[in-house]
Amino acid sequence: MRSFGLIGYPLSHSFSKGFFTTKFEREGIDARYENYPLPSIDAFPDLLKAEPALEGINVTIPYKESVIQYLDEVSPAVSEIGACNCIKKVDGRLIGYNTDVLGFEKSFCKKWQPSQQPALVLGTGGASKAVQWVLKQLRVPFTVISRQSDPSRGILSYNDLSREQQAAALCWINCTPLGMVPNTETLPPLDYTVLTSAHYLYDLVYNPPLTAFLAQGRTRGALTENGQDMLEIQALAGWAIWTAQP
Ligand SMILES: NC(=O)c1ccc[n+]([C@@H]2O[C@H](COP(=O)([O-])OP(=O)(O)OC[C@H]3O[C@@H](n4cnc5c(N)ncnc54)[C@H](OP(=O)(O)O)[C@@H]3O)[C@@H](O)[C@H]2O)c1
Repeated sequence: MRSFGLIGYPLSHSFSKGFFTTKFEREGIDARYENYPLPSIDAFPDLLKAEPALEGINVTIPYKESVIQYLDEVSPAVSEIGACNCIKKVDGRLIGYNTDVLGFEKSFCKKWQPSQQPALVLGTGGASKAVQWVLKQLRVPFTVISRQSDPSRGILSYNDLSREQQAAALCWINCTPLGMVPNTETLPPLDYTVLTSAHYLYDLVYNPPLTAFLAQGRTRGALTENGQDMLEIQALAGWAIWTAQP
């Protein structure tokens, strides 16, 4: 039986175990997928010793950055973003990938034709870095918005952003946890009255499916997408990496 799993802490709301267990059952794949909640990343080497059959590992909060020190090789995306969420073991060597990048790119482009229209990227955490990496690959100009401005890195605060800048940015991407259960009434502090049917609102949050952020767009005829599609694409991208022939 092949063995896969997820590390992070805590893991009570994890999507991956259910997704892969259903996939293995449905497709008759002789494999298991287990959650490995690690109170500290220092416990990762001991997990690898205790579970030598583990050949694919997903990594979630809070270890996407700190796991990199244990890897033998990383993809260009992991190297630039500084975050890894998928590991493949090959001949005892650990190779790190970032499938958030693959998931976001495929999902984002389904409804939106990337162009020179500027985008707003809300938040500066790990998911935001993956989104920024994809936008750079797609040559989409963007401005990063944070609670704290950082002029040296071109980051604006929500208060710095004019109404005109918001109207001109046709694509808004929420990379913050605002709107996620249980805080479903929260949303990034923007001027939603500028939205039109020419705008595209993408929310990385997937629970609830219609966040307060997306609801603001939908009310004004904007195109919307939540993070569920990205989540499933990145999981399948991980599976493709684990099962690819060398
Ligand atoms: N759909 C998917 O496949 C997928 C994949 C990855 C992540 N996600 C989701 O994306 C969201 C962000 O994940 P992450 O890993 O990037 O988290 P993170 O590293 O904690 O970063 C979140 C960022 O959001 C901003 N933020 C946090 N609290 C805020 C608040 N109260 N008000 C305004 N901004 C706030 C912060 O940026 P500033 O300090 O700069 O304001 C922070 O850096 C989560 O909801 C996660 O579930 C979804």
